[in-house]
Amino acid sequence: MHISRRRFLHSVSLGTAAGVLVPVSLPGVSNVSVLQSVQPKKIGKFIQLNHNENAYGPSSKTLKSIQAAVPMANRYVHHYELAARIARFHGVRPSQVLLGCGSTEIMRMAVQAFLGYGKELVQAAPTFHAPESYAKLIGAKVRLVPLTAEFAHDLDGMSGTGSGAPDLVYICNPNNPTASITPRKNLEDFLGQLPPTTYVLIDEAYHHYAQQSSRYVSFLDQPFNDERVIVMRTFSIVYGLAGLRLGYAIASPATLKRMRPFATLDNVNGMVARAAIAALEDQQAIEECVRRNANDRQEFFNQAVARMLKPIDSHTNFVMMNAHHSAAEVTGHFRRNKILIGQRFPAMDTYIRVSLGTPSEMRAFWRAWDLLPYANMHHH
Ligand SMILES: Cc1ncc(COP(=O)(O)O)c(C=O)c1O
Repeated sequence: MHISRRRFLHSVSLGTAAGVLVPVSLPGVSNVSVLQSVQPKKIGKFIQLNHNENAYGPSSKTLKSIQAAVPMANRYVHHYELAARIARFHGVRPSQVLLGCGSTEIMRMAVQAFLGYGKELVQAAPTFHAPESYAKLIGAKVRLVPLTAEFAHDLDGMSGTGSGAPDLVYICNPNNPTASITPRKNLEDFLGQLPPTTYVLIDEAYHHYAQQSSRYVSFLDQPFNDERVIVMRTFSIVYGLAGLRLGYAIASPATLKRMRPFATLDNVNGMVARAAIAALEDQQAIEECVRRNANDRQEFFNQAVARMLKPIDSHTNFVMMNAHHSAAEVTGHFRRNKILIGQRFPAMDTYIRVSLGTPSEMRAFWRAWDLLPYANMHHH
């Protein structure tokens, strides 16, 4: 996810301190020394539970493939092979795969391809912010539809209104920041009712953590075969590659043909082009991450329940929880205790979003929670 604007400005204002370069040699890479930027201490010492990253990092196979790509950093990358591998992995043709610099680039391409001045995007409130931000930049209308009481997408509310059907709908499933899912059956009914002119962007960024639920079915594992449906995945979460930036969309060749012209030229970097192939096929590492996450999530709920807290049922690697106090205040408390938790969501202003960290990071989280004056006072 994105560095916050404030943090970005902060690191800029540190000037050269942020840009000091020291030679570092990577293990397993012979005769290569790379320059690594030294993070300012101020950022480094925070526990980061604010971006839904994979707390355990990339797998060792994935790391090795990154290291193997380092000496070729001077070369442009031909990513046909990566697209072909992703296609094979999902049982589709390479012409049905579109690569992006993160899935956020895919979102931008979709917005540019299917929206424009006067056209309309519909998305949930709250959900991932990127489509809304990109749509507003190009003068499109944005209609925000609150989630249902079960924190699913309100699909009736998202389909047409008196003013006609939307041009693009963004569905985040499971949803960030609520960690909740929208049942497959409802999504199919929704798609069945939409006019042929409405495109639907389905974001499966947290797919791997949701598979245990029978109400969740991926649109890649069980395709809907509809030209209007664009399914997105990212390498930023379960594969642990957020910093290398790679996402992809699977859709019909005709739909992707409309989006491709908006891609940045050579938008996939050489490290991730190699790493992604290793990560995609490292099934054991994925299972291990999902298993660890299930344990970490269970432990979070145990700790929450012990404090009379009731988080929203989570199908992801983060948890959304009503703190019954201003989220700004609670987030500030954690920041003072050197822990960063999710940014604020105006639609749910007493809720905090906590990305699951390692067990020791989570112990630090609960120690800081218990320092809140109202830590143990909730009875519901
Ligand atoms: C819903 C959603 N989609 C996508 C992403 C990842 O974006 P990218 O693939 O650009 O890193 C995130 C990351 O937090 C997210 O929450």
